Amino acid sequence: MPAMVMDRQIADADLFARAVIEGLGQPQKTIPARYFYDKAGSELFEEITLLPEYYPTRTEIALLRAHAADIARLTGTGRTVVEFGAGSSTKTPLLLSAVRPDCYVPIDISGHFLELSAQAFAEAHADIAVLPITADFTSPVRLPATVSGPLIGFFPGSTIGNFAHSAAVDLLRSFRRTLGSGARLVIGIDLRKNVRLLETAYDDAAGVTARFNLNVLTRINSELGGTIPLDAFAHRAVWHDGLGRIEMHLEAQRDVRFCAAGQEFAMRQGETIHTENSYKYSPEEIRLLARASGWEPMAGWIDPDRLFSIHVWSADIGRIEP
Ligand code: TRP
Repeated sequence: MPAMVMDRQIADADLFARAVIEGLGQPQKTIPARYFYDKAGSELFEEITLLPEYYPTRTEIALLRAHAADIARLTGTGRTVVEFGAGSSTKTPLLLSAVRPDCYVPIDISGHFLELSAQAFAEAHADIAVLPITADFTSPVRLPATVSGPLIGFFPGSTIGNFAHSAAVDLLRSFRRTLGSGARLVIGIDLRKNVRLLETAYDDAAGVTARFNLNVLTRINSELGGTIPLDAFAHRAVWHDGLGRIEMHLEAQRDVRFCAAGQEFAMRQGETIHTENSYKYSPEEIRLLARASGWEPMAGWIDPDRLFSIHVWSADIGRIEP
């Protein structure tokens, strides 16, 4: 293995160890959600998107299918699409076949996954130039000089929902900086709804979401020399109405002690590790989110069951008059 790759793996393991030590050292224990997505975790998440209870993926795909032409009328065609994330094999082609860009720029922090999906994309779309960028899109990203505006941003999957409100505003402002003036943003946002529907979407009957959540403990055991007894933990999905979010936890079913990343930890029965939040928005909250982030809502679509929404926002906000 080349030395550079080895160094990166050591650095990654070190970051993971530090995140676990810090997160499990807090009164409310946490593990950052990005550690869900190793190979097994990514495969389990793929399985989640196909579950009957998990409405977001299929509803967003149906909305994109139904409204791609409307979206393209608002974004214009023959431009550059910048996707925040490596791209989905279903959603991205749906948008691009309507918007017909000359150039497609996926931005993702995981260089390896990005290269793979960009390559597959390039093979299927010979007429579109693909310029993948490995970067953390939570900060403004400098685009290649060959990319010129007005640009179209794409942020599907209600990934915005995995950010707390203030972080969501920072993120959307940063997108605006990355995309520049005249830009449009096409964004998928999950809606507030009946609590039962929400809680079963995040705690399915087949137990796939539970396995996905527990996989982060498996990772700690195998990558950080952990001794966490998996059978002592249960998956919990809890709706918090005041905060407008569904919280994912791993709850200790009995008092437990274990080692992880060279440290000892103890948990009481009923104590939890908080692993993820998924914020849901009302249409009015979505309008406020856009405005607070310097975006002007142009149009939005909701499916007939009012489960999910897709929006087109513009970076051209009316000038503030004196
Ligand atoms: N972005 C997805 C969402 O919030 C991630 C997700 C789905 C998830 N199911 C989960 C994260 C269960 C943690 C646990 O809908």
